[in-house]
Amino acid sequence: MSALTVDVQQNGSVHELEEYDFSRLPDRPRALNLERQRSFDERSLTEMPLGLSPRPPSRSDNFSRAFEYLDSAFSPGKRSGFNTPRSQFGYGLTYEPHPMIAEAWDNIRRSLVYFRGQPVGTIAALDNSDEKLNYDQVFVRDFVPSALAFLMNGEPEVVKNFLLKTLRLQSWEKKIDRFHLGEGVMPASFKVLHDPIRNTETLIADFGETAIGRVAPVDSGFWWIILLRAYTKSTGDNSLAEKPECQKGMRLILSLCLSEGFDTFPTLLCADGCSMIDRRMGVYGYPIEIQALFFMALRCAMLLLKHDGPGKELIERIVKRLHALSYHMRSYFWLDLKQLNDIYRYKTEEYSHTAVNKFNIMPDSLPEWVFDFMPLHGGYFVGNVGPSNMDFRWFCLGNCVAILSSLATHEQSMAIMDLIESRWEELVGDMPLKVCYPAIENHEWRIVTGCDPKNTRWSYHNGGSWPVLLWLLTAACIKTGRPQIARRAIELAEMRLSKDSWPEYYDGKLGRYIGKQARKHQTWSTAGYLVAKMLLEDPSHLGMISIEEDKNLKPVLKRSSSWTF
Ligand code: GLC
Repeated sequence: MSALTVDVQQNGSVHELEEYDFSRLPDRPRALNLERQRSFDERSLTEMPLGLSPRPPSRSDNFSRAFEYLDSAFSPGKRSGFNTPRSQFGYGLTYEPHPMIAEAWDNIRRSLVYFRGQPVGTIAALDNSDEKLNYDQVFVRDFVPSALAFLMNGEPEVVKNFLLKTLRLQSWEKKIDRFHLGEGVMPASFKVLHDPIRNTETLIADFGETAIGRVAPVDSGFWWIILLRAYTKSTGDNSLAEKPECQKGMRLILSLCLSEGFDTFPTLLCADGCSMIDRRMGVYGYPIEIQALFFMALRCAMLLLKHDGPGKELIERIVKRLHALSYHMRSYFWLDLKQLNDIYRYKTEEYSHTAVNKFNIMPDSLPEWVFDFMPLHGGYFVGNVGPSNMDFRWFCLGNCVAILSSLATHEQSMAIMDLIESRWEELVGDMPLKVCYPAIENHEWRIVTGCDPKNTRWSYHNGGSWPVLLWLLTAACIKTGRPQIARRAIELAEMRLSKDSWPEYYDGKLGRYIGKQARKHQTWSTAGYLVAKMLLEDPSHLGMISIEEDKNLKPVLKRSSSWTF
């Protein structure tokens, strides 16, 4: 049996060598030899004031635990095997590269943006239509799947350039009208301006001051930290993260989010349109996407920040926030059949510490659809929780990141996958995957979106299907040991994506129609597909975008077994 060797070399030291035989497990990969080291990237909360040590899975552990463990292995500069005619690793016994892969690589390489001769990112869409809007820019969030593809293919340079260039942009003076934005804010996007007369190139960035609706890119800083950790983990090169300017950049991003205010919750209060859904869609307050990214970025920062000097005090604040945030999310954002039934029977107007219905959620605000949508087995993190407000909609990105960051407990992660399987028609349909479910319509659409013609029901952000989400689903599937779910979704995408010229999104209840105003050759649709394929082919890549659970963050939750009826 051939073995996949993950060569771990960082700081010139290899600490442990372990071998696991997955042969008795379902859907098994080949045996993995994991050379393991405790390093920069392996520090968990344990080595901080409150932590515990990550333990390697024993042979009796189940498949997904073993993949959690993959988090502590990595593959520096390892090519994924797509350049060879047949790959022998991954979940398939042998793997024939799909013809779309070569096309996808070609698209991604054509979308590269150069600044003074160096690649610094990928353009949002290679779309030749007149109305470019800002799709000719490098978006921070859009570049993430491209970056992962490059890292997985052993080409980290463009990722490093991107991280350094966006860091320089962060230090710009940011002003909207007469108002100065926080020092830590990262741009939503940037582009290279060529001056043919003077033959010069300059970067121009958008921090929300020119974006439609003047929306704040709260997610950009989080993605930046997550990508820095992915780069470090995949290359074994600590020197980038250790640079004083990178350390400072992280501190600035986190100081923005950890600053004290009037909050009564550990979640991060946001305006509408502050993330992937960058238009008014009723996601203001405490949207799941931002909370999950916040949690992931905090955990990555714990691994990247130096524990001396100015980082030390910040780390103490991060540890406290992680504890409070994970407790809050796992307790109050979690919805399953039992919790739904509890809310249905809630008393309201409770006062004092003994209140069960802490946020004063009115049972009458429960939407009709949620009763049918909730499967017997399964659950998910709801879209938003605030005073008398619970947004019951399903959001894909937040739930997948909750799995990858281990914000979701192991049981919750499994329950999310159960839900995706049971609600396949609704969440995947003909084209993976729904950005949120269900769509809002009629009067509600008028009120919530402000009559947005781009966000009509089952279109764009309002229940549209976004191929980019494939990589997140696939990563979550691998982490939970359910690669067959990802394979099914990828097969669906392969039936259409290339023929349809890699659209940005699809419309309709089942995602059957190319989106009304969708761009063609949208880079992150292509990169999302590519990363999904590479992850399936070589699951050890998962380590760069996944973090194992820290047992210290487990809430003392009595209803933790509520999804087993
Ligand atoms: C749309 C998406 C946003 C993305 C941008 C560029 O505005 O909503 O998430 O970053 O397009 O592709």
